[in-house]
Amino acid sequence: MTDLATLELDLINAIGGAESVAALEEVRVAALGKSGSVSGLLKGMGAMSPDERREQGPMINGLRDRVAAAIAARKAELEAAELDARLQAERVDLTLPARPRRKGGVHPTMQVMDEMIALFAEMGFAVAEGPDIEDDFHNFTALNFPPKHPAREMHDTFFLKPDPETGERKVLRTHTSPVQVRTMMSQKPPIRIIAPGRTFRKDSDATHTPMFHQIEGLVIDRDIHMGHLKTTLQTFIARFFELDEVQARFRPHHFPFTEPSAEMDIRCDRSGGKLVFNTGDDWLEILGCGMVHPNVLKNCGIDPDEYQGFAFGMGVDRLAMLKYGVPDLRPMFDADTRWLAHYGFSAFAAPNPASGLS
Ligand code: PHE
Repeated sequence: MTDLATLELDLINAIGGAESVAALEEVRVAALGKSGSVSGLLKGMGAMSPDERREQGPMINGLRDRVAAAIAARKAELEAAELDARLQAERVDLTLPARPRRKGGVHPTMQVMDEMIALFAEMGFAVAEGPDIEDDFHNFTALNFPPKHPAREMHDTFFLKPDPETGERKVLRTHTSPVQVRTMMSQKPPIRIIAPGRTFRKDSDATHTPMFHQIEGLVIDRDIHMGHLKTTLQTFIARFFELDEVQARFRPHHFPFTEPSAEMDIRCDRSGGKLVFNTGDDWLEILGCGMVHPNVLKNCGIDPDEYQGFAFGMGVDRLAMLKYGVPDLRPMFDADTRWLAHYGFSAFAAPNPASGLS
């Protein structure tokens, strides 16, 4: 047998005998690597006479091609076998009972969202939804933000790339208030909705994250006034924090889409290093609210002389932190299972007003 034939036989045997991708890689390096046996033969061709090269060249190249093909074929085989073995090993038997030790849990934001939906549902509110990617009209214009007004900047808006044809720039909604617009444009009063969802602003520190959650409320009917707004929100906040009543104040504020506008504060005491509601001289801001601005009603095709309404919006994550003693907002969105195991809720403890909220 010629030397070349012996080498080929040895290599083919070694390739067939490699039992893992790693072992096969060693064979490949020993043959086709920089100082491999086949590479050495290829390099040697440079020193041959033209006649020798004409004779040896095709044989050496042929050997190289056959060895390379054998390695590729074996590699595919080994990879398929390794995948099979992994699939076998990682199989989950779904008929096994769940392990009693809880690994994950319902995120406090989602738990609080469900609590809020349960409470508002009891007060006769339906859930409405809108898209996370909004257009300027729904997020700003219809809500009475004047064009080019700094109030648009106030929201630290994330703008998407302009549409190549229209030049229109969509935004990641900066609040859930565009759902007010969508609801008023698609439904006739009376309207009583809440709109929970994700919202986005360019902001990041211990109390702000670029993505957070809000819940919006909107009531439109005849003869709606500020008294309805106050009672609805005081009832909700008292029930949410499981208090008999809530000592609140409505501090004048400004939003382009409500008039008058207010922020609702709850009386609290922080002096003992702990937050206690309904005593002390401190006030904790909880939400923004107001009577729907007549321009917003008009923009949505509702006659402000016939119908009035109120609206409110609050940060769900922040209320979850307050209720369940979460000190920092950022880890809420780190998806760390240790954090979730500590602050999360059992999936079996879905809130409903009959059995208690939490
Ligand atoms: N959209 C306001 C915000 O994000 C909150 C708000 C909603 C205020 C509804 C008034 C009425 O700050």
